[in-house]
Amino acid sequence: MVSPNVVDAAASWDGLRGLGARIGLSGSADTVADMGEVLRVAVIGAGYWGPNLARNFTSSPHWQLAAIVDLDTARAHRVADTVGSPEVFADVEDVLADPSIDAVAIATPARTHHALAMRAFAAGKHVVVEKPMADSSAHAREMNDEARRRGLVLMTDHTYCYTPAVQKIRELITEGALGDILYIDSTRINLGLVQPDVDVFWDLAPHDLSIIDFVLPGGLVPSEVSAYGADPIGAGKACVGHLMTPLENGGMVHVHVNWMSPTKIRQMVIAGTRRTLVWDDLNPQQRLSVYDRGIDLKHQTSEGEERIAAMVSYRLGDTWAPALAEREALSAMVEEFGAAIRQGRAPRTDGESGLRVLKVLEAASADLQLAPAESHSVRVA
Ligand SMILES: NC(=O)c1ccc[n+]([C@@H]2O[C@H](COP(=O)([O-])OP(=O)(O)OC[C@H]3O[C@@H](n4cnc5c(N)ncnc54)[C@H](O)[C@@H]3O)[C@@H](O)[C@H]2O)c1
Repeated sequence: MVSPNVVDAAASWDGLRGLGARIGLSGSADTVADMGEVLRVAVIGAGYWGPNLARNFTSSPHWQLAAIVDLDTARAHRVADTVGSPEVFADVEDVLADPSIDAVAIATPARTHHALAMRAFAAGKHVVVEKPMADSSAHAREMNDEARRRGLVLMTDHTYCYTPAVQKIRELITEGALGDILYIDSTRINLGLVQPDVDVFWDLAPHDLSIIDFVLPGGLVPSEVSAYGADPIGAGKACVGHLMTPLENGGMVHVHVNWMSPTKIRQMVIAGTRRTLVWDDLNPQQRLSVYDRGIDLKHQTSEGEERIAAMVSYRLGDTWAPALAEREALSAMVEEFGAAIRQGRAPRTDGESGLRVLKVLEAASADLQLAPAESHSVRVA
């Protein structure tokens, strides 16, 4: 196990709470008045994900898509043609020099996020950056510090956190419907593209980790991380992996990511002392199921004897499926970015949540032993 060198999640939120004062927006009156103002944004990166951001900014009444930037301008033009023909640039400096642009959305490879975000902050722009927030926690820390110092919003696009299912999970956990969390088991497997620059943990686990960070009160701040992976096809990196972290109360989180599975599974089980929730993201008829089922363990003293006997009882109650709205998560994400800027507050998936995810990923990489692992496995006799 490796310590992710965690910071206290609550403390990091406190650091951002003063953002409103620094930005200069003061209360709800300003906020309501400002809701009518349209913010101008440039999308940087017009590859696979950038066009989705461009489309959602375009369809929002609170945003105007001012420009698309990509080193490959032909690609940027192709995207621009589908979203009302905003200006196209190859060099990000062109949009950073434009004072009418309020914010940038960075959808370039992770290794470029830090440099682009730092340039954008220097130019006074608010930033939403794709997951993973950066290529290292050191870079993520610098980005958070710089945004705070300049009183600018830094948001991480943890898209899943804006799905109706994840919003509902967070609500149920917060109101205590599940009780204390005993374990979380997340599975994200399919036939995936073997990425040139990252292993399966860095490619897929940011989704699971950011969701778990979002739904757990206080965020994901584990003391230790263990990781076990395998590269049975000789890709030079883990293509299948398991990541484990303990929960404070003796429970645990387990994440299984895999690029080699012929079946696609997107499932998370969240078990609590009161109820257990199962999220099957590939079942649109019933993405969420809440089971009033579980095991209760009671300790009893047998009469006339000193020994303590454990009595197991099973709860076999109802199962119900919470109703969920149908809404594109990215649309809610761009609205949250705009609201955070207008209201001068940290967005729900701020740069600190991006940093917490990176710390767990780094700890997993530090602990990772590709099978056959010598150091932390026990030989079978
Ligand atoms: N939120 C999600 O669910 C989700 C899904 C997919 C990808 N992503 C993330 O989005 C980011 C981009 O991924 P992708 O799959 O779209 O990558 P991609 O390789 O398809 O596209 C990246 C684009 O960025 C451009 N680019 C690179 N450096 C640039 C620079 N300095 N200035 C301008 N343009 C530059 C490239 O020319 C390319 O067109 C990654 O961080 C990825 O993890 C997020």
